[in-house]
Amino acid sequence: MTNKEIINKGQEYVMNTYGRFPIALVKGKGSYVWDADGKEYLDFLGGIAVCVLGHSDEGLQAVLREQAADLWHVSNLYWIKPQVEVAEKLVKISGLGKAFFCNSGAEANEAAIKLTRKYFYRKHEANKNEIIVFKESFHGRTLATVTATGQRKYQEGFAPLPEGFVYADYNDIGSVEKLITENTAAIMLEAVQGEGGVHPAHRDFLLELRRICNREGILLIFDEVQCGIGRTGTFFAYQSYGVNPDIVTLAKGLGGGFPIGAMLATDEAATGFAPGDHASTFGGNPLGTAVANILVETVSDPQFMENTKKLGEYLQESLNKIVDNRIIEVRGLGLMLGVEFNADIKELVQICMQKGLLLIGAGPRVMRFVPPLNINQKEINQAVAIFKEALQEWE
Ligand SMILES: Cc1ncc(COP(=O)(O)O)c(C=O)c1O
Repeated sequence: MTNKEIINKGQEYVMNTYGRFPIALVKGKGSYVWDADGKEYLDFLGGIAVCVLGHSDEGLQAVLREQAADLWHVSNLYWIKPQVEVAEKLVKISGLGKAFFCNSGAEANEAAIKLTRKYFYRKHEANKNEIIVFKESFHGRTLATVTATGQRKYQEGFAPLPEGFVYADYNDIGSVEKLITENTAAIMLEAVQGEGGVHPAHRDFLLELRRICNREGILLIFDEVQCGIGRTGTFFAYQSYGVNPDIVTLAKGLGGGFPIGAMLATDEAATGFAPGDHASTFGGNPLGTAVANILVETVSDPQFMENTKKLGEYLQESLNKIVDNRIIEVRGLGLMLGVEFNADIKELVQICMQKGLLLIGAGPRVMRFVPPLNINQKEINQAVAIFKEALQEWE
């Protein structure tokens, strides 16, 4: 089938929830993908920070094939060997205590919100059910997570929204202090805001949040769905800051493209859940966790992390060297970078695509760069060259 044939059928049968680009991607290898008409693209969005080992990684393919031959799915009513193994890895890397598995970022955050409420309920402090979240954040599309998301455009038309969320300004500790009450249960945020425009938190801000949580006896939740799994140059973004959470959520990169999410919590916070309190049929199933095991092993290797850091610095330097008076700022951590412009970048995204470079915005004026973490310098040079050419055409 050609691009056109796939698109025509899609328009007829697939629900209209995405503003899609007019191509259908049918094959990928490493940092490259091909559309149904055979055109090649350098993929600098990687399924939006998902394909951390690029496309069709040999190691991930092998483990998926092996696991598929042994066992695809069993209920969580039984112990699942690869789930137990990846839980051990994540717990050891994170310094937290227990892992819960699900299928997506929204589901991981939903679990974090439920765990927070149940934790205080079990402590006979059910009044503590309010979570401080942040403007311009993004936490998912379920009713609770879209409410936690501090962007009205995602909430419009879905009222009534669940109660229990209040919104502070990111990197503004005073705005957080003002919202603390006897009902506050947790503070939830991304260490680097992704969808909101690639905004890294200030270290002092995160340190202060930790101090407030300790002082108030409330939980600090990091949503690492986008900025976790090595993206910022450390396995968890909070490790770049030296600030430890009580709960952390993961998805996107955890399966390198295989759908899986997770929530990790300290042993203390994890006491909030008892058997029957929360569940997910597919969560942590053998296929997903077999893949996640290899992925976590690969990405957590200190040499791999070091390389990501270096590549991130190299990409940031290369972007910083671009001379264009429409660029306001290049910012980010590791291989989670954003270039902010003084204009809407919609058309620039299209020009890049036509020239064979896939990129996506983070908000209307920020171009986001979240390529595979095993990208190389040559591919970075190629992407930057195409980006520069596109800038010249962009009026
Ligand atoms: C920080 C963050 N949290 C949660 C989500 C939601 O993840 P999912 O789309 O897997 O539900 C996203 C998705 O972009 C995200 O960036």
